[in-house]
Amino acid sequence: MKYQSKSSEICTLQKKVITKIIKMKITVVGAGAVGATCADNIMRKELCEDLVLLDIKEGFAEGKALDMTQTASLLGFDTKVTGSTNDYSKTAGSHVAVITSGIPRKPGMTREELIGINAGIVKNVTENLLKYSPDCIVVVISNPMDTMTYLALTSSGLPKHRIIGMGGILDSSRFKTYLQQAIGCSQHDLQATVIGGHGDTTMIPLTRLATYQGVPVTSVLTDETAAKVAADTMVGGATLTAMLGTSAWYAPGAAGAALVESIVRDEKRVYPCCVKLDGEYGQNDICLGVPVVIGKNGWEKIIELDLNEEEKALFNKSADAVRSMNSVLATLSL
Ligand code: 2OP
Repeated sequence: MKYQSKSSEICTLQKKVITKIIKMKITVVGAGAVGATCADNIMRKELCEDLVLLDIKEGFAEGKALDMTQTASLLGFDTKVTGSTNDYSKTAGSHVAVITSGIPRKPGMTREELIGINAGIVKNVTENLLKYSPDCIVVVISNPMDTMTYLALTSSGLPKHRIIGMGGILDSSRFKTYLQQAIGCSQHDLQATVIGGHGDTTMIPLTRLATYQGVPVTSVLTDETAAKVAADTMVGGATLTAMLGTSAWYAPGAAGAALVESIVRDEKRVYPCCVKLDGEYGQNDICLGVPVVIGKNGWEKIIELDLNEEEKALFNKSADAVRSMNSVLATLSL
């Protein structure tokens, strides 16, 4: 049982008061496993006063919202959760909107194969959200996430700092899990980051920079084990899809909620997120995973890591793969 110190209890209380004073409102579009799990995490953390869960399937979001609400007395939260069947007026005034809608991959599929169906959905959802919440910050989780983030940005014309793709936080959490299993330590003592695309072959676990309480993980793991940890991380999503028959949802949902938390609580956390690059890391006109400071205005600053030549080459290769995925958008009638 974790005991919060008095000061952290006060800090949590202050955070809850802030979200009530601002009357924070968050929308999650897509009441499938990822969206519902993200909403459940947001609600339990009391990141907002009002949470709207929207789906196109008749009654589905309303049912999940009601089910979640029936945990309030058990879990001790006061967040008001509203479900909606495709009525975007219910999302009006959202500070943050999370897009999880679209189809998940099946075993053997890549995230990139989802583009033909999900691109139209993400474009339509983005337009509908901004109709009612023109000032909101948009978090994109739908796959292929890097390209969907680029689509949301280019189709909406929003300022780039208000469009954030969530992939690297999830991949880094998987990286830490595999490192924890290899080292036999606590995940809380690991600092480990994955940058680049959110793809089975485009993501880059930065093993060289990963540390175990300041000690490089490369000094506590053999080269073979470190290489296996990185390889397992890259296919972490596909591994779970093969086991589950569909995409994972607990870690993706929790990663989305962690990103939302840093926004609504202005935490200034540094997370690897998919954001628009305008020359950073030597890339332009692309949305790709890099470490960024996340606060109340969305992503606020890109942290330029001192990558070595091998890492730079991997990053450029990742960018090329994502850019070619982005070019598919022009072939779709969106
Ligand atoms: C994953 O990697 C859904 O892309 C997400 O599990």
